Amino acid sequence: MEHYLLEMKGIGKTFPGVVALDDVSLFIRYGEVHALMGENGAGKSTLIKVLTGIYPRDAGEIRFDRNGFSPTGAAQVQQAGISTIYQELNLIPHLSVCENIFIGREPKTRGLIDWKTAEKRAKEILTDMGLQEVDVLGPLRKQSVATQQMVAIARAISIDAKLVVMDEPTSSLSEKEVQTLFRVIETLKEQNISIIFISHKLDEVFEICDRATILRDGRLVGQYSIGDLTKLKLVSLMIGRDATSVLGKNKSVSTGREDRQVVLKATNLSRARRTTEISIDINSGEIVGVAGLLGSGRTELARILFGDEMQDRGRIEIGGKSARMKSPRDAIRLGLGFCSEDRKEEGLFPNMSVMDNMTMAVLPELSKAGVLSRRAQLEIAQSYIDKMGIATSGPNQPMKELSGGNQQKVLLARWLCKNPMLMILDEPTRGIDVGGKAEIENLITELAGDGVAILMISSEMEELIRSCDRIAVLSEGRKVGELAAKEISEEHIMQLMAHGSDSREDVHGP
Ligand SMILES: Nc1ncnc2c1ncn2[C@@H]1O[C@H](COP(=O)(O)OP(=O)(O)OP(=O)(O)O)[C@@H](O)[C@H]1O
Ligand SMILES: [Mg+2]
Repeated sequence: MEHYLLEMKGIGKTFPGVVALDDVSLFIRYGEVHALMGENGAGKSTLIKVLTGIYPRDAGEIRFDRNGFSPTGAAQVQQAGISTIYQELNLIPHLSVCENIFIGREPKTRGLIDWKTAEKRAKEILTDMGLQEVDVLGPLRKQSVATQQMVAIARAISIDAKLVVMDEPTSSLSEKEVQTLFRVIETLKEQNISIIFISHKLDEVFEICDRATILRDGRLVGQYSIGDLTKLKLVSLMIGRDATSVLGKNKSVSTGREDRQVVLKATNLSRARRTTEISIDINSGEIVGVAGLLGSGRTELARILFGDEMQDRGRIEIGGKSARMKSPRDAIRLGLGFCSEDRKEEGLFPNMSVMDNMTMAVLPELSKAGVLSRRAQLEIAQSYIDKMGIATSGPNQPMKELSGGNQQKVLLARWLCKNPMLMILDEPTRGIDVGGKAEIENLITELAGDGVAILMISSEMEELIRSCDRIAVLSEGRKVGELAAKEISEEHIMQLMAHGSDSREDVHGP
């Protein structure tokens, strides 16, 4: 009989009105990378939270390293040798990077915290992860979401663990950081450490995982060797029907319409030392992509365009008129919308309903003489729940009860119901499952069809290639090139990203 590192058998977990897990089992071998797969709301995060004792289980048995396991607190989980990166990063923004890596288990000399050693080790770990430039003593909140995610990973692997659980570790990382993470995973594997890997990115699962357990609607579909699966088969098992339609989606070929108008025109935007002379324009009905590695300046560009940061030099015109935006409020007034990559920053109100979270930005428009029309509010909410396939028991369900991917959809809907003229989307499908990705991509294409101008930032190249009419490539805060529809290919994007500033002279365009 094979001995597993982790055996979870017959696990059941019910929330009021929802059976999140029903008779689910999970067996993890020593030293394997095991994918936990399923659509948004399938029960993946819940299964992990049952494992780590965040939710008590209603049924089932857990054995870890051959002992019964029913932890009641984080310390016990860590002691047993389980280290977890949760889907919602649970770091402390105002503490330093170093403190975040070691909090709760700082190296000590004679009972005193030895910050010198902590700092040195933090530097070593981050250097191994290709992040030698991060200021380990500076506050974490100064770092990008991607770096924060790497810090969470650094924390997880610096714990002496037998099992590392990663719930969507790569959702905000770009190709290069993902490769770094995969190297780290290989090293863990060599030390016979097991990894549970949750991701909606199928390529990654096929690249790094040995086996997969698939859940659907809180039930176990089965356990498979990755070698026995194809992408099509995996997705079909996840969604419970043939997946050809989901995976076979074609790129929406843009029809170079004549009646397009320039919605936004930015010329030579520079800010501090991080954004240098970026020019970009976006027409109505057009989807313009922004590609680039972590730190290439994608998010900063979005923030400048949305008035969240002011450029030092350069100008922005909206609808042909010079626009001086001092804050996002100005941008919104001018018809811009911005769905940021960071859910927390977007202002997600966990205790409020799906409907209130979704419609908060349009409440003034739904009110007459100060009286809010609940019916109009309900209608809007229901229509986006349907359109975007949001898995919820209804508009009144508290936001915190939705799975991560479904929360993301609600936030996107919040902006869409404002009918913006230009929508800036920073990682719009982050954390969303394959089916949902296709739905959101369709929705974006539809919006463009209605004349909305769209600026889309994504670290998933395939997504940009599928959706965009044009793609601007950034590197080190500069625009190193722009690809027209017929030039768009993974190879071209990679070339531009890789050569960065060297190839700047070779590319034409504004
Ligand atoms: N605290 C909670 N209260 C009520 N229902 C919950 C709670 N947490 C999760 N659920 C429900 O349990 C189900 C499983 O959610 P879970 O978060 O485990 O999904 P997931 O597979 O991690 O999805 P995603 O890929 O979107 O992160 C969903 O229907 C969700 O709405
Ligand atoms: Mg989840």
